[in-house]
Amino acid sequence: MPLAGKRILLGVTGGIAAYKTPALVRLLRAEGADVAVVLSRSAAQFVTATTLQAVSNRPVRTDLFDAAAEAAMGHIELARWADLVLIAPATAHCLMRLAQGAADDLLSTLCLATTSPIAVAPAMNNRMWLHPATVRNVARLRADGVIVLGPASGEQACGEVGPGRMLEPDEIVRAVDGLLTPGPLTGIKAMVTAGPTREPLDPVRYISNHSSGKQGYAMAAALAAAGAQVTLVSGPVSLTPPAGVDVVSVTTACEMLDAVMARIAEQTLFVGVAAVADYRPARAAPQKMKKRSGAVRAVELVENPDIVAAVAATKGKRLVVGFAAETEDTIANARDKLVRKGLDLIAVNDVSDRTIGFEGEHNAVTLVTEDGCEHIARTSKHEIARAITDRIASMLAARGDFEIPSAR
Ligand code: CTP
Repeated sequence: MPLAGKRILLGVTGGIAAYKTPALVRLLRAEGADVAVVLSRSAAQFVTATTLQAVSNRPVRTDLFDAAAEAAMGHIELARWADLVLIAPATAHCLMRLAQGAADDLLSTLCLATTSPIAVAPAMNNRMWLHPATVRNVARLRADGVIVLGPASGEQACGEVGPGRMLEPDEIVRAVDGLLTPGPLTGIKAMVTAGPTREPLDPVRYISNHSSGKQGYAMAAALAAAGAQVTLVSGPVSLTPPAGVDVVSVTTACEMLDAVMARIAEQTLFVGVAAVADYRPARAAPQKMKKRSGAVRAVELVENPDIVAAVAATKGKRLVVGFAAETEDTIANARDKLVRKGLDLIAVNDVSDRTIGFEGEHNAVTLVTEDGCEHIARTSKHEIARAITDRIASMLAARGDFEIPSAR
């Protein structure tokens, strides 16, 4: 019962995904949580208070000025009662109102009055999610400390396909578990790089590699599940970000370096999983290069910055972890990289084995530190990420004098 004794205030706003909230309440309660539901006026178009009252076994609140309900538990008391305010689904309108600090109905007032964490599971049409106004509101909410769970990509109720689907109830419950149950990395801020980088040759062409980003995204998910507050700096991939992880999207190695360095000071842990392109074209042509001009015979390349080495060079007490893909002398090359880049741990895989690595779902790695090697046999990228997270947690625990920035 991971949520035993935890009190969750579930705000439901008016989107079609609201029909999934009775299932969400049941799953939260099955894990031991006490759930109080607040329904917005438009949510009542999609799911009834009667249903939610039956599954939560508590009266459902809808109105700020409900005298009887206020007499039983006033709204400020309700805001204090919650260990977590979870809004699922959170509509575009709800996100806008939260970002503005509105307080003209029960749910918005509770969000202003609570000192507990607030998590939102957005659900809306993909164009609404990608609209600059929503992007602005979500950035504002993240900056205010609101945890954004999802959304997922896929087929939508309107028939379109894209980002904006609410996470499934079981995914939301897993994220809530991570938020409310302290893990070995609770209080730790961690940054992960993932995916490939793209180095432009001209406006339509680039140099890149086969990285899918799956191992980096699995790493970010595993660290978040262990309680870390994770920032994922991601190259271009087509993956849904793990719940509760802040994503910074970049394209080139230089952009990735800038995004990492702008945020590195507060991180206790850095894990470089990105397959950063080692070189970039010395000059990107401003216009599309034409075949007929015969100008493109050779491309001059310059070396990209080494991001994990740059982080390690300024690391202080930060733990710095790298990945390496090798085709020969796997362990010897990994040891060399560990020392050359100033890392604490490197996870190396042998990419000459076509059954693992790059685009697949599986991987096999050897964890190399200055003290020795530990092999993790072929398994899912998620299992690999969990094993590395366990190793990181024990390395951090072994450093008695370790500073946890957010605990200061
Ligand atoms: N890395 C990085 N920045 C780069 C290149 C690599 O941060 N410009 C990081 C990767 O994220 C990974 C580690 O360094 O954690 C090792 O990557 P790899 O490509 O194996 O190392 P290289 O330095 O490119 O070494 P080589 O090409 O000699 O194998």
